[in-house]
Amino acid sequence: VTVVEAVASGKNAAQEIDALIGGAAKPVITAPGKSEVILPGYNDRPVGLETDFFGRKLINPFLLSAAPPSDGYDQMEKAYQAGWAGGIMKTAFAPGVDIHIPAAYMYQNDPLTFANCDNVSGHHLDRVCKEVKRLIEAYPDRLTGASTGGDVSGNDESDMKSWQSNTKMLEDAGAMVIEYSLSCPQGGEGAEGDIVSQNAPLTAKIIDWVLQVGDPDIPKLFKLTPAVTEITTIINAIKEVFARYPDSKAGVTLGNTFPSLDFREMVKEEWEDGAVVGISGAAVAPINYLTLAKVGNLDVHVSGNGGPMDYMAAAHFLALGVKTVQFCTIAEKYGYGIIDELCSGLSHLMADRGIKSVSDLIGIALPEPIRDFMDLTPIKQISTVDEDLCVHCGNCTRCPYLALTLNDKKIPETNAELCIGCGMCGFICPADALSLRDRDEEEAAALKED
Ligand SMILES: Cc1cc2nc3c(=O)[nH]c(=O)nc-3n(C[C@H](O)[C@H](O)[C@H](O)COP(=O)(O)O)c2cc1C
Ligand code: SF4
Ligand code: SF4
Repeated sequence: VTVVEAVASGKNAAQEIDALIGGAAKPVITAPGKSEVILPGYNDRPVGLETDFFGRKLINPFLLSAAPPSDGYDQMEKAYQAGWAGGIMKTAFAPGVDIHIPAAYMYQNDPLTFANCDNVSGHHLDRVCKEVKRLIEAYPDRLTGASTGGDVSGNDESDMKSWQSNTKMLEDAGAMVIEYSLSCPQGGEGAEGDIVSQNAPLTAKIIDWVLQVGDPDIPKLFKLTPAVTEITTIINAIKEVFARYPDSKAGVTLGNTFPSLDFREMVKEEWEDGAVVGISGAAVAPINYLTLAKVGNLDVHVSGNGGPMDYMAAAHFLALGVKTVQFCTIAEKYGYGIIDELCSGLSHLMADRGIKSVSDLIGIALPEPIRDFMDLTPIKQISTVDEDLCVHCGNCTRCPYLALTLNDKKIPETNAELCIGCGMCGFICPADALSLRDRDEEEAAALKED
């Protein structure tokens, strides 16, 4: 029995006793290892989260991205039953394309940051199409989409055919949105570069092929990498193509994982083997904040992705103008049920800030989401300790400005001349005893920057 199950069992027993004392019917406990008690008077969703995706209503702005948690009917069904508004089924290609998924493809860089060298579904597109159909029949109120791609061999004629025929297969299956993988870090997809969407002309050419034949009413999302020098160059090239198809519902998914190298332990005798991986989860969120901040004012539909591991990060994405947020790592780490926390967290955040709807939240940080560096205040605060919380460990004496020393009582004292108010000591204090405060006159005079 796990601690969670033991606690759940206690809570369930308490519910039964409460019902008995109150003369109410005995509660039905469907899963003895779990418990969920909604406190009377508690409103889990003080602000409604309904939103819009190219004219289709969504129950909330949160979708599963193309990845293992969306790699089949059963996964998608679990997600929908948990409360996800939709999902993009994992990238698949028509029968005939070899599937290569390396064993042990997952890496964990830190508890909230994963990396992978997986790239496609283990299933071909014909199976995905059948599952899309069934999902739409069973869950018509959810946004069921799928991801595909096509060849990038350099032979335009045959490459174009593969992108177009995969599009047609998914449209015929009734997909409510089709996403195109232009940003996978593995496998050297692009004839002119490792990642297709690092190459603006190639990206534009492929998007044109898709929009030429695509049903304009079925939304298309082109999934881009954030690993580019200037995302606006890529977006502007894409916008030129979109402008040629003004009736097509089209946008981008931004970003994806961030390409990097991880080592596999001692596969070779001499040294570890490196594998190109895509980093996902917490470490990539700030990269994508910056990418999205640059795109927010460019008037292109964006489905945000890459990094959010809690509702606050998802809210930042929406504030930067994305219409929906796609998730993978959060579902891999916590399971599909995390959607409850995302929704209730976002709803309470909006209530606290007086934001009345998701559409009011979308783009709220625009048009100037980035404060200019020279406008950041140069006024330095100073570190201060809460003596009641301090456990005298001495970690804070690692201050890189050598501004902290422990006194006779093993309490840190700040040298006002050396402390520049960076705040790092607070990060490494295990007791949350350090914070920053404004300087008094004497302390302000002591700080010399020369
Ligand atoms: C194991 C794994 C497999 C993935 N496979 C695909 C894929 O087939 N197609 C795709 O477009 N993205 C794929 N992704 C990327 C995710 O959809 C998502 O874009 C990425 O993980 C960033 O989002 P996150 O930080 O919420 O995880 C995969 C990610 C992981 C971790
Ligand atoms: S705020 Fe920065 S400079 Fe000041 S004591 Fe803490 S770590 Fe040192
Ligand atoms: S790191 Fe925190 S707990 Fe440790 S000595 Fe410094 S203030 Fe006290």
